[in-house]
Amino acid sequence: MIQVFKPYMGQEEIDAVAEVIRSAWIGLGPKTAEFERRFAEFCGVDYSVGVNSATAALDLAMKLLHINHGDEVIVPTMTFVSTAHVVVYNLATPIFADVDPVTMNIDLGDMEQKITSRTKAIIPVHYSGRPVDMDVLRNIAGDIPIVEDCAHAVGAKYRGKPVGGLGDIGCFSFHAVKNLAMGDGGALTLSDQTWYERAKRLRWLGIDKGTWDRTELDKSYWWQYQVDEIGLKCHMNDIAASIGLVQLDKLPRSNGRRKEIVEMYYDGLGDLTEVELPLRDDDVYQSSWHIFHIKCEARNDLSVFLQDNGIATGVHYTPIHIYRCYGNRPDLKNAQALQHRILTLPLYPSMTDEQVNYVVEKVCEFYRTR
Ligand SMILES: Cc1ncc(COP(=O)(O)O)c(C=O)c1O
Repeated sequence: MIQVFKPYMGQEEIDAVAEVIRSAWIGLGPKTAEFERRFAEFCGVDYSVGVNSATAALDLAMKLLHINHGDEVIVPTMTFVSTAHVVVYNLATPIFADVDPVTMNIDLGDMEQKITSRTKAIIPVHYSGRPVDMDVLRNIAGDIPIVEDCAHAVGAKYRGKPVGGLGDIGCFSFHAVKNLAMGDGGALTLSDQTWYERAKRLRWLGIDKGTWDRTELDKSYWWQYQVDEIGLKCHMNDIAASIGLVQLDKLPRSNGRRKEIVEMYYDGLGDLTEVELPLRDDDVYQSSWHIFHIKCEARNDLSVFLQDNGIATGVHYTPIHIYRCYGNRPDLKNAQALQHRILTLPLYPSMTDEQVNYVVEKVCEFYRTR
């Protein structure tokens, strides 16, 4: 079976984990700190805070912005539920915006119409790894804080700048199948020192000093710490961070391979009239190509045909405003129409040329023989 996603791990990750285990410091410690330093540099921001998921990063971002009861936060509907759940965790209301019918990123016109005096943040998602038009978004948002959901987009660039430093706070996922994977993990990226210090406390129950800091830095009164505010328990650990450091080194190569595969899809599928391919990269938008989605006719039949031929596919996403838990059902026409046409094809760095050609061949065969 050709999977839709597959982690790209090897001996280097195994060695890195073994080293951490031998060091006998496997919790929040020096590897996490090293990952945070390197990741901040990679994203072109002053700080990064390592957590255990993008969900936690987004939740902390809401807390940094003091999002609370009565507030509204605008989110696109074509996303994973985390993007909206975190708004509800903080007792506020997610306001769902439609998506652009071509890129599936937030529809900036619809977003603008949904801004009210209660709007306290906007969470654009760089869907599939393609950056949102952040200049236009910033113009519309004015002073409203922007929290980038970069779960798909590690390594993506907008006008030459890495995502994660384009808004006020960036939130990344290092979940098992993401471009940079740790099993589970996430990070906030930001340049505001006060937010950074508060985020470091909030990810560790509100405690003002990490255990590692108390052990290593403050030899005198290592048992003393203060808790001013109740935080969560969602920090990164050094086993995950050690994998992340190796994955960060590999990222240019692994994202580069994704791009090669995408080019093969363009070449192989470009002539099919029944299939619409995603926009290509250009000088402004450089995708991390986490997801390769097509919009196609007879989507359900195609996915069953591919499954029968040993090719797994996915649908990213069912528009999330439809889920009963939100009890908020605006009519979002683009997303509601797209959900029946989109299909995610396999894309992962260790996918061979033969496998890509096989997927192309089977998609073409499906439309030829229908
Ligand atoms: C767009 C988006 N946001 C947030 C998340 C949550 O990431 P995590 O699983 O690291 O919590 C995901 C995960 O798939 C996602 O795709």
